[in-house]
Amino acid sequence: MKNVALVGYGVIGKRVADAINAQDDMKLAGVCDVVSDWRIQNAVRKGYAIYAATPEAGKEMKAADISVKGSMADLLEKVDLVVDCTPKNIAAKNVETYKKQGIKFIVQGGEKHETTGHSFSAENNYASALNLGSTRVVSCNTTSILRTLTALKRAGLLDYARGTLLRRATDPWESHLGGIMNTMVPEKEIPSHQGPDAQSVDPDLNVITSAVKAPQTLSHMHYWNVKLTKKASREEVLEAFKTSSRIHLIRYDQGLVSNNTIKEMYLDMGRPWGDMYEVALWEDMVKVVGDELFYAYVVDNQAIVIPETIDAIRALTGIETDGKKSIAKTNKSLGID
Ligand SMILES: NC(=O)c1ccc[n+]([C@@H]2O[C@H](COP(=O)([O-])OP(=O)(O)OC[C@H]3O[C@@H](n4cnc5c(N)ncnc54)[C@H](O)[C@@H]3O)[C@@H](O)[C@H]2O)c1
Repeated sequence: MKNVALVGYGVIGKRVADAINAQDDMKLAGVCDVVSDWRIQNAVRKGYAIYAATPEAGKEMKAADISVKGSMADLLEKVDLVVDCTPKNIAAKNVETYKKQGIKFIVQGGEKHETTGHSFSAENNYASALNLGSTRVVSCNTTSILRTLTALKRAGLLDYARGTLLRRATDPWESHLGGIMNTMVPEKEIPSHQGPDAQSVDPDLNVITSAVKAPQTLSHMHYWNVKLTKKASREEVLEAFKTSSRIHLIRYDQGLVSNNTIKEMYLDMGRPWGDMYEVALWEDMVKVVGDELFYAYVVDNQAIVIPETIDAIRALTGIETDGKKSIAKTNKSLGID
């Protein structure tokens, strides 16, 4: 049983904490943050041990009647690995502490590849992460790109891929703080960063992305044009996508005509927060013209990296050496079938 610390109990961190808690081969030793309001109070309600990231945060937590178990240093002493889900660039500073103490660590997609020297996507490169000291779980969009293109690559169908990403404006709970309305804002640079980021996991991928920010908060939507290695049938392409347990083929003609209807379905399924860990790819939109393939899908940015993070914990700690077994175990624990 490996002990795991969770630092940064925000959008990603609170989901990772619950997912760790749902496993039988790892234990959540505690969560560490700087806030003392409703966000961390929900962690208290769930029975998680609370640690304060700074002395000031510790004082504020105690003033808010939160039972603080100790400092971040106290938590780190108890664990084999830390999952850092703090905002962009903060983890990079925490990493110095983890390294000094010789603790294995995982950072999220807001950090640079260089922070760990290894970037992770379970179905692509679990094996290369085995027993490493650290890795970075790539971002939500990059995870979706790797899952779908890796499935096509496994089937020997992928030559090159060009994708356009419609990105959510901000996370739902932060909508009052900003986010665009009545506009769409293109990223100036082509390629946008997600294509090169996918290459940090799989340097052989020939992929170029462009991205547009859209005025909604539910999820990202991608449109892809892929050049296949040969003329193929729709069925061959669908069979390739079906080799990933984390691609959910959905049907437009079943009423799933938008990202809000997909979200509603996942809420109805009883997933926590309505989380969709899978890439929801429209089966009946998949189109093959000769050796060209076209498809579209939706990515739940708040959820897709959660199973990946659990698999990354197993890879780094070596508690499971077979990536397929880890993926199956994680899937079962999170209700992915
Ligand atoms: N939000 C998404 O959709 C999404 C998707 C995929 C990956 N990511 C990545 O996940 C990481 C976390 O993003 P998020 O959206 O969950 O951020 P967030 O802002 O929702 O949560 C960050 C948490 O870290 C806490 N924190 C801040 N400073 C801290 C410190 N010094 N010590 C401990 N805790 C501290 C904050 O109080 C907050 O609870 C980033 O790398 C981000 O790029 C985010």
